[in-house]
Amino acid sequence: MFSAIMASKTEAMIRVIACLLLIFGAANAFQEEDFLDGQLTLVVEDALDGGPDPAFTPRSTIHVRSVKSGNAVVTHMRQWTSELEEKLKSLVERDDLYRVRVYHKGAEDKGYVSTFTKACQLYESGLSETFNLMVDTVGSSVVGVGLVPFVAVCLGEGPEVPAVQHNTTVIIRSPTPAPVPDTATYIEKMEAMKNEKAEGKDNRSFLAKYWMYIIPVVLIMLFSGGGQDGAR
Ligand SMILES: *[C@@H]1O[C@H](CO)[C@@H](O)[C@H](O)[C@H]1NC(C)=O
Repeated sequence: MFSAIMASKTEAMIRVIACLLLIFGAANAFQEEDFLDGQLTLVVEDALDGGPDPAFTPRSTIHVRSVKSGNAVVTHMRQWTSELEEKLKSLVERDDLYRVRVYHKGAEDKGYVSTFTKACQLYESGLSETFNLMVDTVGSSVVGVGLVPFVAVCLGEGPEVPAVQHNTTVIIRSPTPAPVPDTATYIEKMEAMKNEKAEGKDNRSFLAKYWMYIIPVVLIMLFSGGGQDGAR
């Protein structure tokens, strides 16, 4: 009687531990997934006054929803007024540059990443542009920015349609480590496979070979044990 109670207690404990391990594992996997696909909000500032040390003003925000899928939403923080249009035109007349800089929202003092393009390119593009954002491997911060206006070569003509607002496309890039050929391991594996074939047997341990069949059986046994215990 006593030993039966002990046994069922041990069994119950094992079951609880198995449950906890499962839940823990799932939670961990979920977290990692979230972590790798961190969201970030970026503020874009630009300088329409020109000159070597121009003043920057906030222009747009880019909310990156998913680094993996490249999903980003752009919101413009200001109206494109005729005043701004005149400023851009005067940059074009002086053959000056259109400068932008980007920072991580909430981290203004951590530094900017910046880029520029010829003002005439942006003007002749009718403010159509593409931002290339380079994001670190974790997807938590922006490490570089590129600005590509729709028009690549200035022709000295205005846009076909007067611009009413920036027309921004965002492309997210993150450094994926390039695959490195691992020749030594490959050759070793090939050798091992050849040997195995020659010997005609599988040298792995019983557990290594059949774990995928054993684990479900063990789990089923653990979880179905409960009913019998209660009846006893
Ligand atoms: C916005 O830019 C894209 C290319 O980046 C272009 O194909 C599209 O016509 C532009 N839309 C407007 C309204 O300018």
